[in-house]
Parts: sequence; structure tokens; C-alpha cells
Amino acid sequence: MSAAAKRIRKAVFPVAGLGTRFLPATKAMPKEMLTVVDRPAIQHVVDEARAAGIEHFVFVTGRNKGSIEDHFDKQPELERTLEERGKTKELEELAASLPEAGCTSFTRQQAPLGLGHAVWCARDIVGDEPFALLLPDMLHHGGPQPCLKEMIDAFNEHGGNHISVSPVPEDETHLYGIVGVTDPEAKVSEITSMVEKPKAGTAPSNLHITGRYILQPEIFGVLENQERGAGGEIQLTDAMLAMQKDGKPYYAVRFDGKIYDCGTKIGFLLANAVYGLERKDLGPALREELRKLL
Ligand code: G1P
Repeated sequence: MSAAAKRIRKAVFPVAGLGTRFLPATKAMPKEMLTVVDRPAIQHVVDEARAAGIEHFVFVTGRNKGSIEDHFDKQPELERTLEERGKTKELEELAASLPEAGCTSFTRQQAPLGLGHAVWCARDIVGDEPFALLLPDMLHHGGPQPCLKEMIDAFNEHGGNHISVSPVPEDETHLYGIVGVTDPEAKVSEITSMVEKPKAGTAPSNLHITGRYILQPEIFGVLENQERGAGGEIQLTDAMLAMQKDGKPYYAVRFDGKIYDCGTKIGFLLANAVYGLERKDLGPALREELRKLL
């Protein structure tokens, strides 16, 4: 079976970042474990992957990230206590968010050399098949379907490599990877150029890379020899650009929901408000309290 015809079974989550923007909260805990309402940010992203049919979850971690591994494991003492106390709802909630035994892998990015390097660290676990990549800071909310599901649908139709994009104001293009496409209005469009964090006035469009990707395994070979780019880091965008220039198809999939960048304080606070407001059990009371406050 050719790589293009393979199913997307595995998803990679780069979770090695230090979270310096959230100090002191992240001094002794991973930023991915900061909660959005009542679950860690990373769980929202793993749930998105599971909803898209992902079967194996690959975490590229670092030092001080042990609680992520614990979070995706059973907790027998806690479960026993909940059982004894008849707390069925809580038990069900825990069971629902637990990946099956053998369906998680953890490897460490030993040095902070950038996103491209983090992805490369997953090469042995992913092996020779196309895979999904989800950046856990970016919560993709709403839209007709979960973002990764839309991307897998696009992959099943077109094969190749896919990057989710959405428009940002012109004065924010320097914060992201930006792509140029053949048709900026189309749901799925061919990518013609990519640049990581372009200088003001040089972006090929206003479509930013939102943090969801479907990639062919040949990206690992390209990353192996990738030189450092923006910020002195090994950039995934540079490796993808090299593949695209080499004639490998790259498609942009427009995400029509909202994206909350939980790598920033304002994005994180907004995500808490939005995810809280949509909850049946919390939304009405939260709305009322916020209304009073504002
Ligand atoms: C990374 C990617 C960038 C993308 C962004 C989305 O940058 O390199 O292309 O737009 O994630 O969050 P980082 O945020 O790691 O600097």
C-alpha cells in the first residue's frame, strides 16, 4: 500500500515547551496541564484527535512533564474511592478520557531546538505512515466539524500533506507561519508558498498556520538535515516548504471556527470563558456573573 493511501492512525503532540509565558504557574507543572474549565488544555486537544478517529497518541515530552503521562493513565486509588462513594458520573468522565492500554507513547525532546526537532523526535514511533500533528496550545473551537476531522476528510480525498489555516489581521502575520494558496476563499486549496514568522509587509497572504497538520513520513528525512531558521530553531515550516518545493503536494484546509491560542494569557482566559459559557451546567451562571462584572 502506498503511503498516500494509508489511514491516519497516529497523532503527535509536541508538549516539551517550558511555558515561560505562564510563570509562576508553570514552575512546577507543565503548561499543557493548565485547565480550561475542568480539564487540562492537552485533554481538549487529545479529545479532538480521538473524535477524528486517531488510535495512537504520541507525546513528545521533556523534563518535568510526568503529570501528562499520569493524566492519560489509570488512577486505581482514586477510582476505588470514587466507586466506594458511588460517584458514577465522575468515574464515567475519567473512563471516557482514558486512551486504551498500549495506545499512548511518550518520547523526550532532549533539547529545546524547535518544533521541527520535536516532530523529528517522534520518527521511530510514527514509522512509515502519514500522521497527524496537533499543537496543544491552539484550541480549535466550533466550526462545522472538529478541525482534525475536516483535515482527515480532505486527506482521504486528496492524499498528500495538509495544513489547517485561518485568516489573521495583517499586523499579526509576523507571529505565525503563513501560507500562500491558489484560492484563498476555497475550503481546500493548494499551497504555493510558506514562510515562518514573516517580517511586516512580506507575508504571502493573511492565512496563518493554526497548528493542525497531516504529514507524510518523508518529513522526517527532511527534518533530519534541516538547518536552523527563524528564532535559531529547527522550523517545521522550513522543512514543509522544502518538500513542497520538491513537488510534494501541500494543501491548506480553512478552519471556519474560532482558535484560542492558549500559549498567550489572553487566549487562555478567553478559552476558559468560551468553553465555560457553552457548558449546560455552568454556562447560565457564568453568563450572569460575567454580565454583573462587566
Ligand atoms: C508554531 C509554528 C507556526 C504556527 C504556530 C501556531 O509556532 O511554527 O507556523 O503558526 O505554531 O501556533 P510557535 O507558536 O511554536 O512559535
